Amino acid sequence: MAETLAEAVSRRRTFAIIAHPDAGKTTLTEKLLLFGGAIQLAGEVKAKKDRIQTRSDWMKIERERGISVVTSVMTFEYDGNVFNILDTPGHEDFADDTYRTLTAVDAAVMVIDAAKGIEPRTLKLFEVCRMRDIPIITFINKMDRESRDPFEILDEVEEKLALDTAPVTWPIGRSKTFCGSYNLADNTVRGSDTEIVGTKVNGPQAVASRLPENERDDFVNEVELAREACRPFDRQSFLEGHMTPVFFGSALRNFGVRDLINALGDFAPPPRDQVADVRTVHAAEEKMTAFVFKIQANMDPNHRDRIAFARICSGKLERGMKARLARTGKQLGLTAPQFFFASQRQLADTAFAGDVVGIPNHGTLRIGDTLTEGEALVFQGVPNFSPEILRRVRLEDAMKAKKLKEALQQMAEEGVVQLFSPEDGSPAIVGVVGALQLDVLKERLSAEYGLPVSFEISRFSVCRWISADKPEDLDKFVTARRGDIARDLDGDPVFLAQDSFSLRYESERYPAIKMAAIKEYH
Ligand code: G4P
Repeated sequence: MAETLAEAVSRRRTFAIIAHPDAGKTTLTEKLLLFGGAIQLAGEVKAKKDRIQTRSDWMKIERERGISVVTSVMTFEYDGNVFNILDTPGHEDFADDTYRTLTAVDAAVMVIDAAKGIEPRTLKLFEVCRMRDIPIITFINKMDRESRDPFEILDEVEEKLALDTAPVTWPIGRSKTFCGSYNLADNTVRGSDTEIVGTKVNGPQAVASRLPENERDDFVNEVELAREACRPFDRQSFLEGHMTPVFFGSALRNFGVRDLINALGDFAPPPRDQVADVRTVHAAEEKMTAFVFKIQANMDPNHRDRIAFARICSGKLERGMKARLARTGKQLGLTAPQFFFASQRQLADTAFAGDVVGIPNHGTLRIGDTLTEGEALVFQGVPNFSPEILRRVRLEDAMKAKKLKEALQQMAEEGVVQLFSPEDGSPAIVGVVGALQLDVLKERLSAEYGLPVSFEISRFSVCRWISADKPEDLDKFVTARRGDIARDLDGDPVFLAQDSFSLRYESERYPAIKMAAIKEYH
């Protein structure tokens, strides 16, 4: 029997992996894909090689810096569920990209290095998840190495993140003796991930013999203590973002990844309801709705294309259907939506709520755009962060000013930089959250548009989106401060201040003006 829409939607799991660089996010992603058959059994070396050669090739800078600049999506099926992993750049200079990606997920896996515990970037990303009540599954990685005491790690998560922990598995052994996981809830044991089904045992004593003699008593005591002292897993609390189930493993050595993927299937929520301006949209509604959270150009240098990544919020997308673009009210033919499998892509004939599709286009779609089957609604909440660095772009060849303008407009539409056009007609200012974004801009302007540029310090260092309850208040401010006002890509006004002191001064002088550091697309 054909699957109903509700059934198809309920087996989608869309999540991101959040981690401090080096905790093992890439390794874990590869292992998950391996399980789903999305990549062939390639071995670690090959996987790593693939990562460097194919995924990163499109941008030299990424290779040079050894960081992942690209946010992409990878889809795979496992045990009846369809998983969409949304990858996020690890480097904090691309934080705005990561935050926007987190608006498109229903859950997150937090990877923690067992020796290092909670690191700064983990903490930051966790805070974004908390703002959005995204449920989090914790994976304590690298148990095959010298690590901290598991209780200590759990305490740290509870204290630093104010998050209840519920260890679902307990590590059998540590570093060299680490050999599997013990499920505290149902007394099943799994050695490596090659074991599809865990083995039921009578208690921790039954597996102690897998450990050297001097570690056996400790293991049995720890399991008993964990059972007594730790909270049992409560799914409701997890779904509300108060509790995290915890798994121990080693992505590199294939331990605990199967526990994790089963947990994603069993615990993680199906596609959530999404808030739009006029109403809340439910995932299993008949009609298709979606929003764009990421634009990526030139993913494949041979195609020079531009892909909008859209998260489907409700219904079913069918290839060839027409969608209404809320920003313009115009129709858009979805003739070639795509799915992504590791480094390959494929035409998507049908996709359901929870799925992420790439929509090739020539600049029609922008970050934050809503697509519907006709209904006039706009999804809320895709954020734009006020830039930390403002620069003027200096062109070496003044004859190419028009080309530069076009190129900057495109880069801004992709979300590489933000672009502000001053009201007084002076040259545009680019804004970025992290300095590496400027390097990306420079590299791409040169490589893709043949425009060598340099950057000049602007007299402004702070930027805020301005609004007022009464339009006349805003007009008054804009007229009075014309030299410090610019428009963003959408034509929304921003106030540019020399420093935070003058920002504070002006906001005290003009209390009717709201100055926002974050703009939500609308
Ligand atoms: P990231 O994407 O979070 O930055 O981490 P990535 O997967 O690239 O892993 C970082 C390093 O940690 C890699 O070492 C990787 O092999 C290693 N690693 C990941 N998971 C485990 C694990 O479970 N156990 C152990 N022992 N190591 C693990 P690398 O290839 O040597 O790269 P690098 O250290 O030179 O960056």
